[in-house]
Amino acid sequence: MYLKHIVESQQFTLPILKELFDRADQMNKVLARGGTRDYDRKIMSTLFYQPSTRTRFSFESAMLRLGGNVLSTEQADAFSSEIKGEMLEDTIRIIGNYCDVIVLRHHEEGGAKRAAAVSSVPIINAGDGAGGQHPTQALLEMYTIYDECKTLNGLSVAFIGQLDDGRTVRSLAYLLSKFERVKLYFIAPDEMQIKPDILDHLEENGIAYQLSSSMEDIVNKVDVVYQTRISEERSAGTDIDPSIYYLDTNVLQKMKYNSIIMHPMPKSIEISSAVDSDPRAAYFRQSANGICVRMALLSMIFEKD
Ligand code: CP
Repeated sequence: MYLKHIVESQQFTLPILKELFDRADQMNKVLARGGTRDYDRKIMSTLFYQPSTRTRFSFESAMLRLGGNVLSTEQADAFSSEIKGEMLEDTIRIIGNYCDVIVLRHHEEGGAKRAAAVSSVPIINAGDGAGGQHPTQALLEMYTIYDECKTLNGLSVAFIGQLDDGRTVRSLAYLLSKFERVKLYFIAPDEMQIKPDILDHLEENGIAYQLSSSMEDIVNKVDVVYQTRISEERSAGTDIDPSIYYLDTNVLQKMKYNSIIMHPMPKSIEISSAVDSDPRAAYFRQSANGICVRMALLSMIFEKD
């Protein structure tokens, strides 16, 4: 099955997800033998206008494990010709001459769509703006949930923290809405609650959800606790405490024994380091899954050849 641009989660149907997860399983076997040379003529460009640890490194590692090559600028806002006034569209047209796929993290919501509209090579959205999407992160998270919980139907998931501009939360909510008997909880200060476009989508698809500003009486009954960071930029000058939803061993005691804790990372003061060693803390396994899922996505993009 061939993929061209990866811009938003909504484009992933259940058959595409199944193929992706099957391929990710295969890629774990490829990784166990150190990689492959199958894509040694392919070049991937990573063009990141915002900071990244996991997404850029795991995409670059995925491409190298496939035998391919990487062209990179990790601080495109400073080291690409945007600083001289070049438009994103022109940059994309130019870089498309030098590679077979572009992985783009852009500071504007809609940046990936703008790039895809003019690009001669596939664009992969690695996060666009505040309130955009981060579809490949959500895909590795779906793979993680399936791997850990052994199902994607009938799950209850609590999203916690700064949800309004959480592009990973937005992308994952779209993907979860494709499954049966899912219930989503959105726990955030009123000023940071999930945006209405996501709630409209859930209602259109018959997905149950609940909004709350407190995690009391919710974390004890869900299968997945999805924690996010409340940034200092957003909490400064407000009465919002960035550690309002602090997840520590007291919270762990209330959670179901077979639930998992996820976090897109980077994590900060919202999770106690004492939680890291609990088997339910899945966030390091989640970030590790970035390699096999991104290898699988790249192989689907290169399928046409
Ligand atoms: N999850 C995620 O996007 O992490 P980075 O910002 O480090 O890429």
